[in-house]
Amino acid sequence: MTADLYAIGDKPPLGHVPARMHAAVIRPERYGEPEGAFSMEVVDVPRVRRGQVLVYVMAAGINYNNVWSSLGYPLDVVAARRRRGQSENFHIGGTEGSGIVWAVGEAVTSVSVGDEVMLSGATWDECAADIRLGAEPITSATRSAWGYESNYGSFAQFALVSDYQCHPKPANLSWEKSACFLSTAATAYRQLCGWAPHTVEPGDPVLIRGGAGGLGSMAIQIARIRGGIPIAVVSDEERGSYCRALGAQGFINRTEFDHWGRLPDISDGEAMTAWLAGARRFGERVWHILGERRAPRIVLEHSGQDTIPTSLYLCDNAGTVVICGGTSGYNADVDLRYLWMRQKRLQGSHYASIRQCRQVIAPVAGGQLDPCLSWVGTFEETGRAHQLMYENQHPPGNMAVRVNAP
Ligand SMILES: NC(=O)c1ccc[n+]([C@@H]2O[C@H](COP(=O)([O-])OP(=O)(O)OC[C@H]3O[C@@H](n4cnc5c(N)ncnc54)[C@H](OP(=O)(O)O)[C@@H]3O)[C@@H](O)[C@H]2O)c1
Repeated sequence: MTADLYAIGDKPPLGHVPARMHAAVIRPERYGEPEGAFSMEVVDVPRVRRGQVLVYVMAAGINYNNVWSSLGYPLDVVAARRRRGQSENFHIGGTEGSGIVWAVGEAVTSVSVGDEVMLSGATWDECAADIRLGAEPITSATRSAWGYESNYGSFAQFALVSDYQCHPKPANLSWEKSACFLSTAATAYRQLCGWAPHTVEPGDPVLIRGGAGGLGSMAIQIARIRGGIPIAVVSDEERGSYCRALGAQGFINRTEFDHWGRLPDISDGEAMTAWLAGARRFGERVWHILGERRAPRIVLEHSGQDTIPTSLYLCDNAGTVVICGGTSGYNADVDLRYLWMRQKRLQGSHYASIRQCRQVIAPVAGGQLDPCLSWVGTFEETGRAHQLMYENQHPPGNMAVRVNAP
């Protein structure tokens, strides 16, 4: 028997695409804190076009980007898509997930109906001029974050992806584990291993902001696997212990310092002296953990405005600060003297290539990289999960919600 709508968790016959589906939806009129912005609704299942795949979603990962979509800030994702000519006035987020291929569009050969897959979170136009001229697709002007900039992410019974977003799901991983880590692990992997010559080498000290967070928990392990010496920054001792258990050499509690935020003006001698004292004291904690006077060769950044001045000051001569986000704000000050005279690099990094996605799936499947699934919620708790993240009250590691999974 086929129907037009199935209850959450009820499976249509394999390959039958119902007309409607349940989804955790954000609408512009609800923009605000995540718990109020998300609402369970019934919407049309999107049409599958050439090169696309419809996936019956079993579980979805929770990421910070849909905290931003809830707020409608810094990007009103619905308005941005409408400016590009798309008609939907709602947003279905979810930038990673796991599920079963339910329908494939014309010209799709890499997956078939019934395949179990995990989904990566970036799309691009494979015919774009820059890609045809050799650009790495993840750097293309056409790249967009699926389930953030683009619609029909994994917070719905069916998700719409491009075929290259589907990766074989390791049979030994649960739906929830396969849904939770790809965004953070692949992003951290590109940050730490994708920007030669600033890749983690044996013995390299690596300072990791938000060590107990999604990115941080993956970064600590990746740095350790590569032979580096990860040092975590956290906001309490419990999170610090979590980082140590993952392989951090030690941790620094950022709440013991008060020099965070924008850099004082260079002409304000007194304020600058106070700021420098804070940054140096922080650096001494790094030395203490390492047992020698060495600076981090790489600083993994995402906290942004509050922390960039210190990260750039602290990183080693000819080292790098590699950044993929700006949780605390985007106006990050750089004292250029440290940048040029000490020949440092400030490197932007955004998500990962398909190859880099595969390079983190393999060690998770092999048991070397723990996906750090720390919280699993129901589909209806999608807004709650983002609210915890917004308030920085979420447990360490990565989170997921069950969508159709029992
Ligand atoms: N570009 C990309 O492809 C990409 C991919 C993934 C994530 N991101 C971005 O990276 C950021 C972190 O993502 P996530 O998944 O790791 O989030 P998360 O799980 O919330 O972890 C971030 C951690 O950062 C720390 N933090 C929060 N505010 C801070 C501040 N003002 N100063 C210093 N540390 C602070 C918190 O740890 P403590 O309180 O313990 O310090 C928090 O646990 C988000 O902005 C996200 O949008 C970007």
